[in-house]
Amino acid sequence: SQKKEMLYEGKAKQVFATDKPDEVVVRYKDDATAFNAQKRGQFDRKGELNNAISTLIFGYLIENGIPTHFISKLDDREQLVKKVDIIPLEMVVRNYVAGSMAQRLGVEEGLKSPVTIFDLCYKKDELGDPLINDHHAVFLGAATYEELNEMYALTDKINQLLIALFDKANVILVDFKIELGKTSDGKIVLADEISPDTCRLWDKDTMKKLDKDRFRRDLGEITEAYVEIYNRLQIALEK
Ligand code: C5P
Repeated sequence: SQKKEMLYEGKAKQVFATDKPDEVVVRYKDDATAFNAQKRGQFDRKGELNNAISTLIFGYLIENGIPTHFISKLDDREQLVKKVDIIPLEMVVRNYVAGSMAQRLGVEEGLKSPVTIFDLCYKKDELGDPLINDHHAVFLGAATYEELNEMYALTDKINQLLIALFDKANVILVDFKIELGKTSDGKIVLADEISPDTCRLWDKDTMKKLDKDRFRRDLGEITEAYVEIYNRLQIALEK
């Protein structure tokens, strides 16, 4: 496909039209933002690393039967994907307590949860993506109850597959966020990206953070952590 005009620019990615109406090009930028873009920065090779890592993970999920928007990696920074209408809900899954849940509930970070915790957030920058529940989502017209059931089931399946993959990489999948979209024929598929920007990933032996918390909390060695995740995933996927 030929890349055409830019359709959308987000905090970390740009989306371009192609000569096919149902395919778009996603370009990964080096810009990093956190805390609803109150903290901004850039780090070396971020776009390239997230593109590479997300490509590995989407390939693995597709092989395991997960419907996604992914078509192919085009180059260092770009992917060809199916055009979808993004459902304006962030599906957050937590296997361990961390981040906003630790803060909100006053629970220590690092506690393993006996149950899989699903958070729903309304994608709305002006509001800072507030935590909502199913009823709010239906009220807002973001999804029906039936669609939410399907979305939770898909998200749960993705969590189980990702836990197994990261386990092979000696990494704990603490939590992550995904976005789902609807294709032109109305099918709900995994969209956006899965990368150290959207997951909390801790080394199993040292508990070292290998994700965007290194940027959020100014821990340094950000690029190194993303490279480490890429290398470990590559090896894990050969096993
Ligand atoms: O900030 P919080 O603890 O709620 O984040 C939970 C998980 O969702 C983390 O892995 C974080 O990186 C991810 N997340 C995200 N995009 C957001 C909010 C959270 O990728 N807008």
